Amino acid sequence: EMSEMTLSTAPAPLPVEPPSGCPFDPPAAFGELRIEQPISKVTLPDGSWAWLATRYHDIRAILGDTRFSSDTTVHGYPLSGMTGGGSTENRGFIRRDPPEHTRLRRMVTREFMVKRVEALRPEIQRITDELCDRMTDAERRAHGGVDLVEALALPVPSLVISMLLGVPYDDHDLFQGLTGTLLSRTVPDDEREAARLELRDYLDELVTAKEADPGDDILGRLIVEQRRTGELTHDEVAAFAALLLIAGHETTANMIGLSALTLMREPETAERLRQEPGLIRGAVEELLRFHSIIRNGPRRVATADTEIDGHLIRAGEGVVVAVPSANRDESVFPDAGRVDVRRPNAQHHVAFGYGIHQCLGQALARVELQVVLGTLLRRFPTMRPAVPLDEIPFRTDMAIHGCHALPVTW
Ligand code: HEM
Repeated sequence: EMSEMTLSTAPAPLPVEPPSGCPFDPPAAFGELRIEQPISKVTLPDGSWAWLATRYHDIRAILGDTRFSSDTTVHGYPLSGMTGGGSTENRGFIRRDPPEHTRLRRMVTREFMVKRVEALRPEIQRITDELCDRMTDAERRAHGGVDLVEALALPVPSLVISMLLGVPYDDHDLFQGLTGTLLSRTVPDDEREAARLELRDYLDELVTAKEADPGDDILGRLIVEQRRTGELTHDEVAAFAALLLIAGHETTANMIGLSALTLMREPETAERLRQEPGLIRGAVEELLRFHSIIRNGPRRVATADTEIDGHLIRAGEGVVVAVPSANRDESVFPDAGRVDVRRPNAQHHVAFGYGIHQCLGQALARVELQVVLGTLLRRFPTMRPAVPLDEIPFRTDMAIHGCHALPVTW
């Protein structure tokens, strides 16, 4: 049995780089592993090892099994090479297990329910239209095109989550800088630590201000309903703010950038979506599947000996769940490397994870993507990249895939 084998050499490093030439694809090694060794051992940057799961069904089995813990303080949790969540101090519920996870998540579930989020659609459309107007002006002035990431992909989710939480939008430059540093794989650890502390201090002050004067927003409601009743401490409210801000920010932004680029590169698909706007929902699911922006996770640690696909994963051993690999599993998504906006089962992707930690913000992300991509297709039918593909700075250095900048013209 594989898992019992004594390894004479260290396992291969965790694959992170997309194959050269195709910035959209997950590492080629995933495809080989799915066939040859779907549950394998990999070396993490600090020299420790973890299991790597690459098949769709194994990944759902692991994420759906609460014997695999999300708690980063459990001995053996594979933290190495993971960014943004390396710290364990006052961590949000994404890094906790039931019953604490259940208790905390429940406090905000209604804020992100489909009905609630659908009601935001007109406001999200208004924000998008305004940013598009500004893009048109900027393009007229500059002639050289605009950076779609800066002009649209980042500000939409950033404005929306800041508005929902009750964070002053004037502070958004600070956030984008800090979260960018936090999620980077290349900045030195001490710089990342400094960014984490700065964000913590900022949110600490924000929560203090809201404790005195809670507004009609998510943080305000948490303070009135949970903080004042003793259910949450000050630090726990700040941890909610940190989790929702970080999780709601760069993820959607990167999906917008990559998806817009994909539609520019596939004019037939773009034209079809213009002809049949009703296809946009399915297209967003397919783009989520295809891009799978969470590149080296999620991760878990086994809390009991558990068999997955014939491999014994022992208590205390870490698991890296390769979501991008699951979403390219040909046994579930035939011709998985192709974008097919009519793919019948695209919505079965695991880009938002699976199980009890499945993305809390998925309804919001979906509406933002539908609105922004729909608007771009309508308003800028001739939009195209202003530079060749190999000059677009892809985020190969980041835990969340995307592009740092996307120069476009039309
Ligand atoms: C969890 C992906 C947007 C908030 C997750 C997880 C994934 C994910 C894969 C599971 C992590 C795990 O199992 O350990 C994405 C993607 C997004 C997106 C691809 C955009 C396209 C958002 C937005 C929010 C958000 C807009 C807004 C607040 C969260 C939260 C969790 C989470 C709070 C933790 C849920 C829990 O632990 O119960 N997300 N996300 N996400 N996401 Fe998202």
